[in-house]
Amino acid sequence: MPDLASFDVAGKRVFLRCDLNVPLKDGVIKDDGRIKASLPTIEALLEKGASLVIAAHLGRPKGEAKPELSLAPVAKRLGELLGREIIFPGEVTGALVTAAAQKLAPGQILLLENIRFSASETSKEESERSAFAAELAQLADAYVGDGFGAVHRKHASVFDLPKLLPHVAGKLVAAEVEVLKKLTHNPERPYGVVLGGAKVSDKLAVIENLLGKVDVLAIGGGMVFTFLKAQGKEIGTSLVEDEMLDVVKGLIAKAQEKGVKLVLPTDIVVAPSFSPDAPPTLVSADAIPSDQMGLDIGPESARAFAVEIEKCKTVFWNGPMGVFEFANFAAGTKVVATALTKVSGISVVGGGDSAAAVRALGFADSEFGYISTGGGASLEYLEGKELPGLQALGL
Ligand code: 3PG
Repeated sequence: MPDLASFDVAGKRVFLRCDLNVPLKDGVIKDDGRIKASLPTIEALLEKGASLVIAAHLGRPKGEAKPELSLAPVAKRLGELLGREIIFPGEVTGALVTAAAQKLAPGQILLLENIRFSASETSKEESERSAFAAELAQLADAYVGDGFGAVHRKHASVFDLPKLLPHVAGKLVAAEVEVLKKLTHNPERPYGVVLGGAKVSDKLAVIENLLGKVDVLAIGGGMVFTFLKAQGKEIGTSLVEDEMLDVVKGLIAKAQEKGVKLVLPTDIVVAPSFSPDAPPTLVSADAIPSDQMGLDIGPESARAFAVEIEKCKTVFWNGPMGVFEFANFAAGTKVVATALTKVSGISVVGGGDSAAAVRALGFADSEFGYISTGGGASLEYLEGKELPGLQALGL
C-alpha cells in the first residue's frame, strides 16, 4: 500500500484534506491543536517539492457562507506556525480559486474557504457529491487524506474526491489509525475506558461494543445521571435522557453479564443552576436534592476512577467528567486527566473536546500517550464501524 514517504509529489499540486475544525470564540482560536497536528504532513509534502491546495471545514454551516465560520483566522494561524504565506482567496471554488491553484509554485499553499460552505460537500445525494468532487479534482494532481476528525463523514472531500486522484493517507491519519489499532487488536490488559460528556445517546453504540471488550468502564459527565436514574436514584434537575432509561438498564445488566467492572460515581458536586458562579455542594450520589443539578463527579468518585485508570495498561478516555469550563466543576476532569498521565501502558485521550479540555486545564500533550484529534471518528472506529474516509484511502 503506498504511503506518504513513497508518494511522488515533486512539482505536483496536492489536494490535502485536513481537519482544522478548531474551537473559536469571537474569531479567536481557543485551541490550535488540530492545526498543529496537521503540520507534519504539510511540511513533509512541501519538502518533497509539492504545492498544496488545503481544504477543511469549520463547524456546521449547512451549505451557507457564514462569516463567523470562515477559515480566515485558521489561515492566519497556519501561516504563523509554518512561517509561510497562506494564499486564502476566501472562496471554496470558482474562477479566483482555479486561477490561484493554477499559479501555485512548489512550496506554495492555497487554503480554500470552509468546504462546508458548499452544500454539495455534505450532500446525501451521491451524484451531487461526485460532481463537486470532480470540480475539486481539477485543482490538483494528487490527494492526501489527513483530516482524521472527519473520516467518519461520507463527504465529498473526504470520501468521493480520493477516488478521482492518486491518493494516500497523511501522517496524522496513519498515526491515529496505528494507535486505534492498538486499542482494538489485542489491547494490553487490563483495558479501561472512561466516558463522559452530555448524552448517552451519542455514546450508546460505543458502550455496547466496548462491553464485549473492556475490563473496566467508568462513566461520568452529564450522561451519568441517566445511569443513576436507571438505578432508581433521585437526580434532581440534572441532565437526563428519560427515553434512554430502559436502554441504560440493559447496558448495566450486560456489563454484569460480561464481567465488566462498571464504575459509576458515588458522590456528586451539585449546584442550583448551570452557571460559573452557582454555589457548589458535595452530596452522595444517593442524595441529590430535588432542586439541584449535578455538574461534576465528587472527589471520592474521582479518586475511585483514578485508582481504576492507573491499574490499567490500556486506557481510552472520551468526554469530560463535569462542566470543566467552570472552575468550580473542573476537579473531576482534572483528577481523571492526571490519572491518565500516570498510566504505564498506553493512554489515549480521544476527541476534539477532550483534547481541548486537557489543554485548557493546563496539561501538556506530551503527558499523555496519545491525544487523538478525532472525537466522533475515534468513537466510531472503536464501535467497529467502517469509516468512509479510511475506506477511501484503502485503510
Ligand atoms: C469534529 O469536530 O469532531 C470533526 O471536525 C468533525 O466535525 P463534524 O462532527 O461537524 O463532522
